[in-house]
Formats: sequence, structure tokens, C-alpha cells
Amino acid sequence: MTTDHPPYYITTPIYYVNDRPHIGHCYTTLVADVAARGQRLLGRDVFFLTGTDEHAEKVVTTAKDRGLTPMQWATTNAERFKSAFAFMNFSNDDFIRTTEDRHKSRASAYIQRLVDSGDIELGDYEGWWDGSQEEYLTETVAKEHNYKSPVTGKPLEKRVEQNYFFRLDKHEAWLKEQIQSDAIRVLPEARKNEILGRINTGLQRVPVSRRIKPGDPDWGVVMPNDPEHRVYVWIEALCNYLTTVDTPDRRKYWHAPVHLMAKDIVWFHAVIWPAMLHALGEKPPAVVYAHAYWIAEGQKMSKSLGNFIEIDTLRAYADKYSLDSVRWFLTTQGPLGANDADFAHARFVDVYNADLANSVGNSASRVGNMVDKYFEGTLPRTCDGTFGFEGGKALQLALKARDDAGKPVDVPGRTFDFPTLTTDAVANFTKSLDTVDLESAMNEGLRIVRTVDDFITYSAPFTLAKRIGDLEHAEKALATILYSCAEALRIASLLLSPTMPDKMAALWRAWNCTHLNDPNDPNSGFVAPLAELAQWGGPHGFQAGSRVSKGEVLFMRADPKEPAPEAAAV
Ligand code: MSP
Repeated sequence: MTTDHPPYYITTPIYYVNDRPHIGHCYTTLVADVAARGQRLLGRDVFFLTGTDEHAEKVVTTAKDRGLTPMQWATTNAERFKSAFAFMNFSNDDFIRTTEDRHKSRASAYIQRLVDSGDIELGDYEGWWDGSQEEYLTETVAKEHNYKSPVTGKPLEKRVEQNYFFRLDKHEAWLKEQIQSDAIRVLPEARKNEILGRINTGLQRVPVSRRIKPGDPDWGVVMPNDPEHRVYVWIEALCNYLTTVDTPDRRKYWHAPVHLMAKDIVWFHAVIWPAMLHALGEKPPAVVYAHAYWIAEGQKMSKSLGNFIEIDTLRAYADKYSLDSVRWFLTTQGPLGANDADFAHARFVDVYNADLANSVGNSASRVGNMVDKYFEGTLPRTCDGTFGFEGGKALQLALKARDDAGKPVDVPGRTFDFPTLTTDAVANFTKSLDTVDLESAMNEGLRIVRTVDDFITYSAPFTLAKRIGDLEHAEKALATILYSCAEALRIASLLLSPTMPDKMAALWRAWNCTHLNDPNDPNSGFVAPLAELAQWGGPHGFQAGSRVSKGEVLFMRADPKEPAPEAAAV
């Protein structure tokens, strides 16, 4: 199902194959996954890309140390990323490896076009080479870090060579205007200001090639006009975003690309890549979103501390608390804004209990159990949900029953208008997705759930149930209340589904809502756009006679005293 919205294209960085997949890689890819699933739910034709960056020099040296060819080593690790991402239930539409011909041949063609247009030219280069990061640093940056790599602390190497340069300087005014005006939206705002500040210090041409030395392995993309040079890996890697969709059937996705990454590599994505695209006559990205970092139990993750939260740790958490709860925690508590976020077990358990066990899971099971107990699993009637007329009467009766039972509940008098609440939630969710503000998008679903909880506490349907037989209309009132709870939760479950696709699918099975989503195509098989699916009592909503069963417990309460799950020793 697709609508007439323009196609949506979202990408993650392509990850170095020398690293094992860890929380950082999984996080950015999860953000892209949730955004992609959210956009598919809105009815858009989505293309979500991730992959691996394989032409780094380090791949060659590590492979050699291990007695492997660079390709064997790259393949082993690309497979690790693929299996980690499959485990995380990511719905990427493709996985690009830069060693694939489809990438290499097109990247090479773009470079040729840039040479032809005069945007890439030959010149002398003298600079500080950070071999551990595969990049040149300027004199200022090198000096600032005592001629050591700012990332790994390894000594920098002075290199003078004839190089090809990309004339980034030619695009300075254009870039400034694009970023300032949000034509290229650099998010969050703090990153935009940083980038503009740096552009204002003036842009210089950037080296885009290295001379091939005798004995160098055949690894990477050769300059198409000059076989003595190899294209610098960063420049070639950036091209992946376009190479993957540069085919007749996928070209439509190059419409308003959304690039995600962490703040470490925002310069490449917000400045160099858009300028390259401009020189190529291609559309620049619409959004460049650079989030902050995960840290682990209060400490920066580093190789020397050996405290990376690896995929195996996430697997251990998923075994214990479910994969969807890991996805929920990472999505809602992650460093999407400008500040770093801490992955700490105690925090995980707090959020799990508060949002999932005690809210989403508890609400669904309360409502499912009541429908099962009082109406044998069938919703007998609908309700306009506003508690204006029918519902108003139902609520009055409920309150009467509650008061008669002599158990006033400590919830201040309030009005409940579920259709307005859910319509607003859908609108806010949609708006938040546009700026990849996933925490806000998810909170809209949670807001509905929490209102249902309040409503149950307020109207005390279990008390009303005891009055069936002696209070007139009590049964009708109870049915009306439970319908409203179920319908509100059904709409909430749609909004929560991008983060928790499995758990919401389990709820839809129990509540016979599988018609919302084609079970053979769980990633994009919604039968209608969200606006239609979420219509209160609409064609996809609950009707009188809909069957709602108790279903499984979605999230068991977690005991904060239990130790943190640990990855099994390898
Ligand atoms: N290969 C380049 C990217 C080329 S894109 C054309 C690269 N690869 S990387 O393997 O180092 O991945 C960096 C990215 O991994 C970050 O931008 C971010 O998306 C993710 N993360 C790595 N560590 C992270 C954290 N500690 N926290 C959050 N995300 C982090 O750079």
C-alpha cells in the first residue's frame, strides 16, 4: 500500500568492517528503521539503506595479519553486521557493500563527472595523515592534538604528494545558504550552528585521492582518469547513498534523502557530500541528522577500556526482556539530541517497567481481561468515545457505581475525549517523524496508553461490572467504556509499532486486528495509511461484535534487583 506522498529515502553511515557491530552501529540503524517503519505506516514508499564501508587500508593490514585476503576479511565482518541487523529486526531494503561492482562502477563514474566539470583537479598536497582514521588533518587540527590522532592518539604522519582535490571552496556560498535556510536541514540545531560556524571560517579544497605505491594491494576505487591514484575512501564511501539507488527503478528515491549518523562524521555529510552532489547536479540531502553518543554505565566506550556494548550484550538483554523492549529503550532513551545517553542496566529496568510492563502491557492486559471476563471476548457495542452523549451517560453510571461502592479514586475530575486525543496524537506523531524526533513520536503512543490507564482508574469499570443487574444500563455503560479503551489502545498500538513491531503484532493477533497489516509483509504491509487506520471506529477500527481475547502477557514486570544480563562468553 502506498499513497501519493513522495518517496522517502533514509540512510545510515556505512560501517567500517574492521569493527564488530556494537550499540552505536545498532542505534543509528535502529533510528533509521523506526523512521522507515513510521513512514511506511504513514503510507509512504520507503527505501531504507545501510551497509559497510570496506576499502579502508586497515582492512588490508588486518586481513594480512590473519592470513586472509582483504575480501575474505571484509566478507566475514560484513556478514557480522548483516546478522546483527537481522537480529535487531531491521527492515532495511538493501545492504550495500562498497566492494560490490554496482557501487564501484558508479562511484567511479561520478568522480569522472567531477573531473570533467573541473570540480576535481590535480594539485600538490602536504598534510598530516591519520592512518588510524584514514584521513588527512589540517595543520591547525594536527597541532592542537600534538601531532597525534585525535581519535586513537597514534602519531600522525607528514605526507606530501600530488593529489586530486575537490574544489569544496567553490561551493561555500551555496552551502551556507542551503544550510542557513534549512533547504539542507542539519539537525539537531546545535549541529547546524557548529557547521555554519565552521563554514564561516572559510572552505578549502579537499584531497580526494592518494598516489598508489608499488606493492599496494588492489583495494579500493582507482581514479578513473589516472590509474596512478586511488580515490580516497571517504569520498568513495559517501557515494554509496547515490550508487545504490542510481538505477531506473530506484531513481525516484533520490528525492529528499535523509542521512543519519553520529556527530563524529557530520562534516562529511553536511558539507562535503552536499557540495559533491551540487557539483554533480544532483539534489542535496533534505535532512542531515547527527545524533550524539551512547556511553556505557556512565563511561565513554573505548577500545582501551574494553567496555563497548556489543551486539551480544544487546542479545542478552533481548533474551531476558524481549527484543522490542531493547528497541524501545534505545529509541526513547537514546542520544538523538545533542547530549550523550547512558546505557545503564538500572535505567533500562526503570524504563522497561514504567513504559512497557506497567503501561503498554498492563493496559492491554487489563482491557483484554475485562472484555474476556465481562463479555466473553466480544465487544458488544461501539462508542463515539467523546463521552458526550452515550459515553457521558456511561461515565456517569460508572462514577455512580464507583461512589456507591464507597471507593472514591484519587483522580481529579476530568473529561475524556478519545477521538480528539487520538487524532491529535496521530498528527503529532506524523509531524515528529518529519524531523526524526522519534522520542516524541513514540511518546504520542504512550500518551494514549496512559490516558486509557487514567480512564480505567477514573471510571472503575470493574466496580460497574458488579452492578450489572441492579443498576440500570450498567452493562451498556460497561460495554461503552471497554470499547473506548480497546479502540484507543488499538490506535496507540499503531503508533508504537515502528519501535515494537513484534509485540504490537502479538497484540493484533490477540485482538483480531491482523487485518491492519498483511502478515506476509510485516514491514510495510499496512492496508491503508495511518490516517485511515487510526480513524476512531472507522472501517479498520473495532465494531460491535469485534473479538478481543486476553492474549499473552506482553511484558512481564522486571525485578530491578536482578543482575544485568551479560553476553555469554565467546
Ligand atoms: N565508515 C565511516 C562512515 C562512512 S559513511 C559514508 C564510519 N564508520 S564507523 O563504523 O566508524 O561508524 C560511525 C558511526 O557509527 C557513527 O556515525 C554512528 O552512526 C555510529 N556510532 C559509533 N559509535 C557510536 C556511539 N558510541 N554512539 C552512537 N552511535 C555511534 O565512520
